[in-house]
Amino acid sequence: MSQKVTPWEVEGDVNYEKLVKEFGISLLKELPEEFNKELLFRRKIVFAHRDIQRILEAKKNKKPFVMMTGLMPTGRFHIGHALIAKQMIFWQNLGAKIYIAVADIEAYHQRNQSFEDSKRIALHEYIKNYIALGLKKKNLEIYFQSERDTNAKRSNAYYRLQNLLAKHVTFNEFKGAYGEITPGKMLSSLLQASDMLHPQLKEFEGPLPIVVPVGIDQDPHLRLTRDISKRVKEPKFIQLSSTYNLFMPGLSGGKMSSSDPTSFIAMTDSPEEVANKINKYAFSGGQETLELHRKKGGNPDVDVSFQYLKMMFEEDDKKLAKIEEDYIKGKLTTGELKKYTIEKINTFLKKHQEARKKAEKEIPKFLKN
Ligand code: TRP
Repeated sequence: MSQKVTPWEVEGDVNYEKLVKEFGISLLKELPEEFNKELLFRRKIVFAHRDIQRILEAKKNKKPFVMMTGLMPTGRFHIGHALIAKQMIFWQNLGAKIYIAVADIEAYHQRNQSFEDSKRIALHEYIKNYIALGLKKKNLEIYFQSERDTNAKRSNAYYRLQNLLAKHVTFNEFKGAYGEITPGKMLSSLLQASDMLHPQLKEFEGPLPIVVPVGIDQDPHLRLTRDISKRVKEPKFIQLSSTYNLFMPGLSGGKMSSSDPTSFIAMTDSPEEVANKINKYAFSGGQETLELHRKKGGNPDVDVSFQYLKMMFEEDDKKLAKIEEDYIKGKLTTGELKKYTIEKINTFLKKHQEARKKAEKEIPKFLKN
């Protein structure tokens, strides 16, 4: 089975083991107990890392550290996006200072999306959902790539860094990292590198450890940025750390993608829409007939409903284990599993949609800088 995983495209079945080897990242092993409170860590949905040790040390020694990540503000905000949002909130609660880049320059180059559209989508899809999910105003900077800061010293430093980094990379490295390369891709990649490193500039936090949580498709950016940053003598950067989460599967498999409405569950979906999508599209690991299912049992590893429970909607480990066991044994049918998943998602969304209404008023407060 072929796979294609680049920062701009994810196709086919993703073979994580192969990617871990190819990209030279490490599987996440022992983490301090407090990480296990978050099911994404406990269940190894966040499964791999580079240099996480540096972050754990900072935390242990009560030294400041940053979590930095970015969002491409295109399309509807779906439950796959919530996976990264939950990590932001986790890191914020752990004591990290949070930097979030709205990648409107990248969206302009890569998706031909206007800055106005990016702004609207970032505010009313992404940031609103972050707030509703529990992101706090404290210890947080959200900014747009096209308007870094109203403070000129800080703003200049961010764009200056993009240029300084350009000096330390070759055209062939770009080609190696990204394949096809255009002037726009090159500019947005360098800006993404500045996103990841600029919190360490004296105009911001000064040198400190930074963790960048991403989907594994974004790793080429990280590898390149790590390589470039090593070559910069002044300022001396502390090497970036990163964590990698599994992709939220799309309803019929592959990666959940906002460009394919039959692949995602949006945070604004109604209970009927959720039921319809799960019943109609969610790939089942069950057998063709009930008789066969009772005899042979289902496969939770490929069952999209089960994966949604595991990745987000069933917090209770014991319940999840029981569902898994019953499904494997054929005691639980696909219909029953889907019904339960629909209920769980709808309970979550009902609460979330109420929180979204309250979040609307809060948006401006999250943007002032
Ligand atoms: N390229 C990322 C995406 O497509 C968005 C992004 C911009 C980003 N700057 C970043 C991600 C810095 C992590 C860190 O979603």
